[in-house]
Amino acid sequence: MISKKPVITIDGTSGTGKGVVGQLVATQLGWNLLDSGALYRVLALAAQQHGMALDNEAALKVLAEYLDVQFIATSVSTPPRILLEGQDVTDTIRTEKMGNAASKVGTFPAVRVALLSRQRAFRESPGLVTDGRDMGTVVFPDADVKLFLTASLEERARRRCNQLKEKGINVNLSELVEELRERDKRDQERAVAPLRPADDAIIIDTDTLSIEEVVASVMREVRKVFPAIQAVSG
Ligand code: DC
Repeated sequence: MISKKPVITIDGTSGTGKGVVGQLVATQLGWNLLDSGALYRVLALAAQQHGMALDNEAALKVLAEYLDVQFIATSVSTPPRILLEGQDVTDTIRTEKMGNAASKVGTFPAVRVALLSRQRAFRESPGLVTDGRDMGTVVFPDADVKLFLTASLEERARRRCNQLKEKGINVNLSELVEELRERDKRDQERAVAPLRPADDAIIIDTDTLSIEEVVASVMREVRKVFPAIQAVSG
């Protein structure tokens, strides 16, 4: 049965392009978007700004419950600006350091529970496209379409390196490989909501695919479930 407010989940490891793919699919469908990784990144930044240790589960839980975060849509085709306590942190949260810090705070069960209802609140009409690590397994287990993106570690590191270079940030490729390896391991081995495909997820290996090709594969899967769906743009 198709749920009233449909959800498409796109999970996967870092650097598989799921953020961009999620954004483009949401734009094509004219649906809402939730970048769940951004929530974990904002929480890690808030902890840092409030001088909290990243292993203080009790304090992080309270911070997660009261986190003052806003996603401000600017246009249908660009990612929202993200505000923490009223300050624009859209770019600040995108560093590898914040990705790693987000992965650390995400290991705590109390933190994940505190962020659950916040994530589910994004399920609004006409539908939701969401990307993360546990969207199809834990946050939206009844999602209508579940995708899981994969790519080799080397390819993901290369993509991340290029992305950072475009932003004028120079990084060492072998260091990036090690950071991604460490982050994957932490995300996959954590006790609660570990990174893994849902049993009913469709796995897309993106190693040799362009972003446009991945979006086209996702849209093919979406049309199988929603044959009458109309793209509003793209
Ligand atoms: O998708 P991302 O790189 O922005 O995510 C950063 C980290 O946040 C990721 O390494 C683990 C954590 N995260 C999570 O635990 N659960 C999610 N649904 C999304 C992200």
